Amino acid sequence: MTEKELIQKAKEALPFAYAPYSGYSVGAALLTADGSVYTGVNIENASYGATLCAERVAAFKAVSEGHTKFEALALVTGSGDFPTPCGMCRQVLSEFCDGDMRIILHNDEKTEIWRLEELLPLSFTGKNLREAASHGI
Ligand code: THU
Repeated sequence: MTEKELIQKAKEALPFAYAPYSGYSVGAALLTADGSVYTGVNIENASYGATLCAERVAAFKAVSEGHTKFEALALVTGSGDFPTPCGMCRQVLSEFCDGDMRIILHNDEKTEIWRLEELLPLSFTGKNLREAASHGI
């Protein structure tokens, strides 16, 4: 799956965004290590706080079907604004890659490709907990 194809999948998901409160639609398409693609959209809630971003919807769909190694994620918005993943989504994605995952940000004007570790440097991961355990903490 090329980066262009993954962007296309994210665009195709956009109409399913449920964003009646912000009006800001987001579409994501996640490529897993075995070549599977999971799409996601933001799903808002009247309580606001129960809203889930498109990236986490895609991530949780993949993990819930046994795909725990992520390769790439493409992100688009319905407004044509240039997308960027929120901090909580960066943290969730970091759980399922070695920091080398490609984050493809796209709008009509430009496409940027980042590695997750560039977007979330010095991230806190399971490695930190394992190291702490080895120190008897
Ligand atoms: N949103 C995402 O889906 N992904 C992001 O990375 C940023 C924000 C959604 C959440 C909410 O439904 C709307 O955009 C406005 O914050």
